Amino acid sequence: MNSMTANELRKKYIEFFVSRDHKEISGKSLIPENDPTVLFTTAGMHPLVPYILGESHPAGNRLVNFQKCIRTVDIDEVGDTSHLTFFEMLGNWSLGDYFKEEAIKLSYEFLTSTRWLGIPAERLSVTVFEGDDDVPPDEESASVWRSLGIPDERIFFLPRSDNWWGPAGTTGPCGPDTEMFVDTGKEPCGPDCKPGCHCGKYFEIWNDVFMQYNKKADGSYEPLKRKCVDTGMGIERTAAVLQGKDSVYDIEMFTPIVKVIEELSGVEYGKNEDGDVSVRIIADHAKTAAFILGDEKGVVPSNLGQGYILRRLIRRSIRHGRKITIEKNFLEHLANTVIDMYGEIYPILKEKAHFIREELTKEEERFSQTLRKGESEFEKILPNILKNSARIIPGRIAFRLYDTYGFPVEIIEELASEHGLTVDREGFDEAFKKHQEISKKGSEKSFKGGLADHSEKVKKLHTATHLLHEALRRVLGEHVIQKGSNITSERLRFDFSHPEKLTTDQIREVEGIVNQQIRRDLPVTMEIMSLEKAKERGAMAIFGEKYEDTVKVYSIGDFSIEVCGGPHVERTGVLGEFKITKEQSSSSGVRRIRAVLKSNGQEP
Ligand code: ALA
Repeated sequence: MNSMTANELRKKYIEFFVSRDHKEISGKSLIPENDPTVLFTTAGMHPLVPYILGESHPAGNRLVNFQKCIRTVDIDEVGDTSHLTFFEMLGNWSLGDYFKEEAIKLSYEFLTSTRWLGIPAERLSVTVFEGDDDVPPDEESASVWRSLGIPDERIFFLPRSDNWWGPAGTTGPCGPDTEMFVDTGKEPCGPDCKPGCHCGKYFEIWNDVFMQYNKKADGSYEPLKRKCVDTGMGIERTAAVLQGKDSVYDIEMFTPIVKVIEELSGVEYGKNEDGDVSVRIIADHAKTAAFILGDEKGVVPSNLGQGYILRRLIRRSIRHGRKITIEKNFLEHLANTVIDMYGEIYPILKEKAHFIREELTKEEERFSQTLRKGESEFEKILPNILKNSARIIPGRIAFRLYDTYGFPVEIIEELASEHGLTVDREGFDEAFKKHQEISKKGSEKSFKGGLADHSEKVKKLHTATHLLHEALRRVLGEHVIQKGSNITSERLRFDFSHPEKLTTDQIREVEGIVNQQIRRDLPVTMEIMSLEKAKERGAMAIFGEKYEDTVKVYSIGDFSIEVCGGPHVERTGVLGEFKITKEQSSSSGVRRIRAVLKSNGQEP
């Protein structure tokens, strides 16, 4: 295996594909053009969507590049050794030119040839799509791998949740994929350990997607006019594998940042897991924040959209900075390191260096002032809440922390969970809404997808609640009506009208239907319409609830339609596995279900 730095890998990749008749094109901004369905560019294919859908590309139909990307779906996982919110992706594309056979052969040559990465073929495992009701198993890819010498024991057929990619937002190109993994040589974690398992034995480094469909807003798939190939290789991960490192934080794209954090805090990285988690969160978030501020399309911290994510990243890193005793402003030092490391590759960072530092420091000052007050206020309320057996922070108290001290609600949740507590999000949202009405600071509609500050976990559970509601109606009957809903970041709780206990079979059936809709990876779409029109369309509305004349209506593919303030995730595929953990009586004629989502292990 040829050990190399991330920048050497970047160069080799481009060189290889250029030598195979690909044109190098430039990467684009982190803020997607004309795509309201996602906040950030999440993959190299994102800026290429119009071309994958059929437009001709001025540089031809064989392309290669590297692209800066941000994925925030797993923001809560950052802190372990592999999750990142900012990463770079190498990619090659065929726009109606080669398809499966040539794509896989190119990947195999680049991975295994000693001229390129020199990964021993016997350390490679691959996965291919096992097929489902809509699309047959990908035997073609499997047979190309076989022809290259990968034996059947190392070709794994996996379901849609693993081997289907896209669309990046709610609509757009998608298709089956084949993923390439390097065996690190560690012992398997158990008899079921295989590529896709997250124990650290198999490291996924590359994904070849065979774009065959365009997913439309109504949830249907239309075949693409011409088949395309979209591949993505994560630079940080692949460099880590080539360098024999267990963690992306141990490669040179992070060690200089980690070193500055060590100097500022006195914490020695690698000595204490709690400290390490904070160091990794700070390193990741500071890098991402520097890239967002230093993007072609400037974004500043705010309470909306990209600006809110930026604010959250900055505030979260400051809080972790305080945890490891960094008391003074520190983000500009980390930004300088990021600019030094990446300024050659992304000159815009150098151009915007002053702006990046200034904005970081401004936000740091704003937050530092309130952080101490907020944390001491939190300490004050803690004893009372700990006395209460429910171990829930009431929504109005969480809202006061948010409103008075500027704590993003996710940080309140994080502080709470450090003490084994949860936050009553429904109560928080109510207080938030009331506040908005009173202050008339603009309507909910001005927020993209509903309230601006909902965590991903809550959004996922909220979408799952809609699926559950509809599944219950299909299994038990139309008399099922929502009576109450309460969602924390851990679980959903749903009350509904039904006269008797559910049987085990009914529970299984409901779970099965919900999981089926998750696997269908349905798009979640929102439209604003009159209440009358929503009712005409058959949207479920909560009985007794007061609605405005104009309402937001959320549809989940062809499966569910509900009047709802949101927010929701963009597609059901990200939900993971749905499981009902409890079914009990709530009050006369009303049943209560608690359910959770188990992570589906998708990583950036
Ligand atoms: N777009 C594909 C991915 O991000 C290649 O994995």
